[in-house]
Amino acid sequence: LPVIALWAGLGYLAGSVPFGIVIARAFGLGDLRKIGSGNIGATNVLRTGNKLAALLTLVMDSGKGGFMTLAALWLAAPDAAQVAAFAAFLGHCFPIWLRFAGGKGVATFLGILLALGWPVGLAACGTWLVAALATRYSSVGALVAAAAAPLWALTLGRGDLLILLVALAALVFWRHSANIARLRAGTETRIGQK
Ligand code: G3P
Repeated sequence: LPVIALWAGLGYLAGSVPFGIVIARAFGLGDLRKIGSGNIGATNVLRTGNKLAALLTLVMDSGKGGFMTLAALWLAAPDAAQVAAFAAFLGHCFPIWLRFAGGKGVATFLGILLALGWPVGLAACGTWLVAALATRYSSVGALVAAAAAPLWALTLGRGDLLILLVALAALVFWRHSANIARLRAGTETRIGQK
């Protein structure tokens, strides 16, 4: 148990680094929480018009989860990796540094999924891409990818990930409740819109 607690703590700490805020500030784009949706993720960094900053945010927010998951996988065991992955996702959504008001977890979700099983991760990334490109809504990409992830796990023989992915999908939907309300009202901004 102490080993699992260690990976939970390390995962949470890595996940709680708000790279969107750090990168937006470093690029001189201002306080991300006062821009667009106010979210700390790559989609909102893109609303500043700076594609490089948005790409870096995507890579770092995915990478922090993926890195801790792989570290736990290599140094400990598969169950430790799932704990580290879940903790990193929670860290991104509820970082202590931002008084627990963090992001929506999509990049981190994709990063940990690629690390836990790259075929399932690639399938989820592909699902995000198809849904987001088809609708031009980043949030729709996230919702469809999160809902599809448990089905991809079953299809690709990774039933061991099922409980984790159902929990993550529920959290992703919950974190997108404002987006879902905007989608229903027809006021959600599309990718490339300010
Ligand atoms: O990654 C979060 C995305 O799905 C929605 O972001 O800024 O449009 O709320 P945003």
